[in-house]
Amino acid sequence: DTKTPSLHGAYAGIFNIGAAVSTRTIRREGGFIAAHYNSLTAENQMKFEEIHPEENRYDFAAADEIAEFAEKHGMALRGHTLVWHNQTPDWVFEEKDGSPASREKVLERLRDHAGTVMGRYKGRISAWDVVNEAIEDKSGAYLRETKWLETVGEDYLEQAFRIAHEIDPSAQLFYNDYNETDPAKRDKIHRLVRSLLDAGTPVHGIGMQGHWNLYGPPIEEIREAIELYASLGVRLHITELDISAFRFDDRRTDLLAPTNEMEELLTRRYEEIFRLFREYRSAIDSVTFWGAADSGTWLDGFPVRGRLNWPLPFDRELKPKPAFWSILDQARV
Ligand code: G3I
Repeated sequence: DTKTPSLHGAYAGIFNIGAAVSTRTIRREGGFIAAHYNSLTAENQMKFEEIHPEENRYDFAAADEIAEFAEKHGMALRGHTLVWHNQTPDWVFEEKDGSPASREKVLERLRDHAGTVMGRYKGRISAWDVVNEAIEDKSGAYLRETKWLETVGEDYLEQAFRIAHEIDPSAQLFYNDYNETDPAKRDKIHRLVRSLLDAGTPVHGIGMQGHWNLYGPPIEEIREAIELYASLGVRLHITELDISAFRFDDRRTDLLAPTNEMEELLTRRYEEIFRLFREYRSAIDSVTFWGAADSGTWLDGFPVRGRLNWPLPFDRELKPKPAFWSILDQARV
């Protein structure tokens, strides 16, 4: 509809406004997406298992469609993601006989994957989530126990960033994670990126996923994380923003608020978050929502099957919510 102001237009000159999309959503809602967003991330279709399901088979059809849509509409494109413990096919870590592959073999496969995928979009994808969610989330441990760590060793992150930079020196290379404002995890992420930078590793940014909810994390905790990460001299992207109506800590999934209060809570939440992002615009270059509208949120039925969730500024019919207007207002102060 023409009367709703463009979200990315309102933030022009402040930071990019992005959305995670699939070929389904761009086919169904392309006009709406182009009107409000000037950056895209493939929600799933550039992940290892989707784009390189077998050692000698790549499938670029979906990723190409998303990249072409972004280019047609002059949008930035974020690559998600090269190295992750999830959605990476088992063959990457195994020899033909099923035994664990050697460090050299896994690195050779990573070099082939990154070379082929990053090479295809060289100069078209401006930022890559090179490594996603490598820090142990719950316990006091440092690096998450993953097959990457097991087969390559502790330096798999440094290797991944160096390989990525060799392939596309023009791309900004990001470390991306969630629960990124939790004080204990925040310090581990800081320690990791600090150590990578001290080793001369080409890390250019930290992706703060921003999977938050109606009551948390507290805005001051978000502020402290932004300040800590920015102090490393890297760029910040908010990469997967949504505000769930359900709480995840200790797997409790009680609805956080009575339904009639939810809209007001969501509006207040987005207002305070975008006021903070605007305050740190010198460090933040991009804010991406994990979905263009509630119609495409991954949170539907998660963590409570069958329970709707309303985490984004546009509803299931793509209509702007009161939260949309409060986000827009923060661009104008
Ligand atoms: O494509 C298959 C389809 O063929 C099959 O019929 C269907 C039913 O099994 O599954 C489909 O794959 C699903 C895929 O999403 C595409 O819809 C997977 O099962 C499902 O696990 C996958 O979930 C994705 C999730 O990552 C797990 O990888 C979500 O859509 C996606 O929003 C979510 O995104 C992650 C970020 O990449 C990293 N940060 C956390 C964020 C939320 O978990």
